[in-house]
Amino acid sequence: MMIWIIKILYLSTYILADTNNDDIEVDPNGYILYCPCMGRFGNQADQFLGSVAFAEALNRTLVLPHWVEYDSSKPSDQIPFDKYFKVEPLQKYHRVVLMSDFMDKLAPTVWPPGERTVFCYSERHGAPKGNECNAKEGNPFGPFWNHFDVDFDKSELFSPLYYDTSSAHQIQRWKDKYPPSLFPVMAFVGAPAPFPVKKQHLFIQKYLKWSEYIDNKAEDLIRDKIEKPFIGIHLRIGLDFKKACEHIKDTPTMFASAQCMGYRSEKGKPTYDMCYPSVNTIVNDVKELVVKYKAKTVFVATDSRDLIEDMSKVIKDVKFVRQPSPVSSHVDLAILQKSDHFIGNCISTFTAFVKRLRDVEKKETSFWAFKDSSAKKDEL
Ligand SMILES: *[C@@H]1O[C@H](CO)[C@@H](O)[C@H](O)[C@H]1NC(C)=O
Repeated sequence: MMIWIIKILYLSTYILADTNNDDIEVDPNGYILYCPCMGRFGNQADQFLGSVAFAEALNRTLVLPHWVEYDSSKPSDQIPFDKYFKVEPLQKYHRVVLMSDFMDKLAPTVWPPGERTVFCYSERHGAPKGNECNAKEGNPFGPFWNHFDVDFDKSELFSPLYYDTSSAHQIQRWKDKYPPSLFPVMAFVGAPAPFPVKKQHLFIQKYLKWSEYIDNKAEDLIRDKIEKPFIGIHLRIGLDFKKACEHIKDTPTMFASAQCMGYRSEKGKPTYDMCYPSVNTIVNDVKELVVKYKAKTVFVATDSRDLIEDMSKVIKDVKFVRQPSPVSSHVDLAILQKSDHFIGNCISTFTAFVKRLRDVEKKETSFWAFKDSSAKKDEL
């Protein structure tokens, strides 16, 4: 069977390499597939950068996973990668293929049912014998793979290897242990990437470009509702974050905090107010920047309350704008990216996504309760 697969891999490179859109060339170096099973969009996008880097290091094609979205207690939704982002700019950095294309056109040959191994670092808690990765147990794990009718036949525990693309030695060990001839497809239970994103992977952000669909919605709202110059703000003040911020003293490197404190905590430790700013802090920071930038509009993206009432009591002659519901968080992100100035939450990976997009365009970002201007931009 293996020999047959190897043959197919070699032959199909030529047979399928035709200009017909329905055919996709098989990559003899194999594929990486994973479930973005940890957190919401900010976390998924953060780990996406590391996953691209890992695929690049192993020189395998990255299968672009569906994004996982949650709506209260229902099973997760799976959203095609290209609803939000263009595929072609990513191709400029490394070989990628949409998951639906992979499943329809490539999986029947390179990853047929019966030969589907799933990779995990070590046995998942409570996993039955022979199914150590237990890759479909729980939400979003089960719904993610069921969306494409994927069942796994075998588990591969890859410990003590880990996802360190900066170590040539590590990468060689991956290649030696899992050659594409024997493992044409490596499917991972979670993102094959560290969290939070490593500094050396930040630049991959520049290959993520909004789809026309998201970009047009953002441009429409700006044109219809926003007077320029405008300031975009991200409020991450829901109860879940309040809870997380209780640990900021003991976990100063929590989530995206490196974006303002530095990857080696050069700027010290984040305060509670940076993680969970008071209404007073928010109103004062917005006011200061509205004056500085002579802003005519403040665009508010929020996970819960919008504080527009509190802000408009103190900040006059400015329009406060939100997206009408139902709010698309991706349209929020795109509008925040396009704002003349942006204030976000240093700890939040949602803010971090906007900051990286702005870094690419050399636009400035501020953070709640954080005054150090030297930390505002990374060179991407
Ligand atoms: C990486 O993979 C591509 C496509 O399979 C192949 O053409 C190329 O030679 C590989 N590069 C290296 C350094 O192995």
